[in-house]
Amino acid sequence: MATVTDLYSRIIFNSRGSETIEIDVITDGKHLGRAASPSGASVGTLECQSFPMNSPQRAIEFFEENKSKFVGVTADDPEALYSIMKEVDPSPSYSKLGGSIAYALSIASVDSAANAAHLPLFKLLNKNGPYRFPFPLGNVLGGGAHAGPGTPDIQEVLVLPIGASNIVEALKMNFKVHREVRNIIEKYDTKFTYGRGDEGAWAPSVTNDEALQITEKAIGNAGFDLGRNVAMGIDFASSSLWNDKAEKYDYSRKGNALSSGEQIDYVNNLIKSYKLLYVEDPVNEEDFSGMSLLTSANPGCFVTGDDLLVTNVSRLAIASKLNACSGAILKVNQAGSLYDALLFANGCRRDGVGIITSHRSGESTDSHIAHISIATGSKMLKTGILGGERIAKLNELLRIREYGLIEGMAEICST
Ligand code: PGA
Ligand code: ZN
Repeated sequence: MATVTDLYSRIIFNSRGSETIEIDVITDGKHLGRAASPSGASVGTLECQSFPMNSPQRAIEFFEENKSKFVGVTADDPEALYSIMKEVDPSPSYSKLGGSIAYALSIASVDSAANAAHLPLFKLLNKNGPYRFPFPLGNVLGGGAHAGPGTPDIQEVLVLPIGASNIVEALKMNFKVHREVRNIIEKYDTKFTYGRGDEGAWAPSVTNDEALQITEKAIGNAGFDLGRNVAMGIDFASSSLWNDKAEKYDYSRKGNALSSGEQIDYVNNLIKSYKLLYVEDPVNEEDFSGMSLLTSANPGCFVTGDDLLVTNVSRLAIASKLNACSGAILKVNQAGSLYDALLFANGCRRDGVGIITSHRSGESTDSHIAHISIATGSKMLKTGILGGERIAKLNELLRIREYGLIEGMAEICST
């Protein structure tokens, strides 16, 4: 057991050059744990507030005023830290402390405890296993809130190397498809300059339909069978498309708008045409009944809530009652602290909802989510594709291999 003895906080910059919070937790006077908070671009309305009054500086000031209360806490125990955070800030969405502090503090704390115990973080968080590698969910072509004008309305076209027998092969397969996607884009967008969005996915000037066709072709050109070796997925990030006044999904780059029913038909058709194994936020964040329709119509596809669930146990309870999701994105900073996120993961496992641990589009080079994905029994790890801050998580999976504790890849095809 490691005890918190010192805490330090600072503002650093994330992968978008925006300010974020980094916290150092020292246990027993010598073991450093460090974590920096990520941040989203397509943010769910019900996510935790990142900073009090939208000010990273204010978050730091509030933390510094209160940090002595965390001295003496057992760093191995996310619940103990959570209880003190709740004394300091009883608001449900960490509006005083800020979700960024809750994230960085809770993860730096277990990071330090793992160092003190000479244990990998995933083993500190889950003593007994079984441990499996999540499938890397790669973002190969994107638009929406992660890329500029002319790119597709759809935020992310994803690939999943379901035929891979180990994690090295899985990563290589995703990178191979990503490279092939670039080669094919050159035929569709003659002015393509190899531009990439926030997560490393190619960001060409192509339509939604072309984006999907390109990815399908790239999978074939890379030597893989769609749906057998490599499956496709889509993050619609539909709340970014949803126009509340008109009650329609605005595909403004394509130049049309879809009603709720038309959107569901569109998603159902895409699932069939491209044998999609994964759709994320296919309808807007309040449309639980639309999610239920899609989930029951597509038992072979992970119909996944991100902005819909915001890593929140109460939202999961609604979804589970309505059978609205077969997959759930787990983003610790949506929930606030690690303990909040672990409760959410427990709920997902209880309800038979597949967990997809996820990065944010604005990231640091931290790699803790690789460990969190294994500790929570995640089926997938969503971490973009390229860029140092994305690769950091994937390379950590390779280091984790060296402990010899992982018993193969997650079970993925039995939703
Ligand atoms: P965000 O997007 O991190 O910008 O919110 C990622 C996602 O929607 O999954
Ligand atoms: Zn999403």
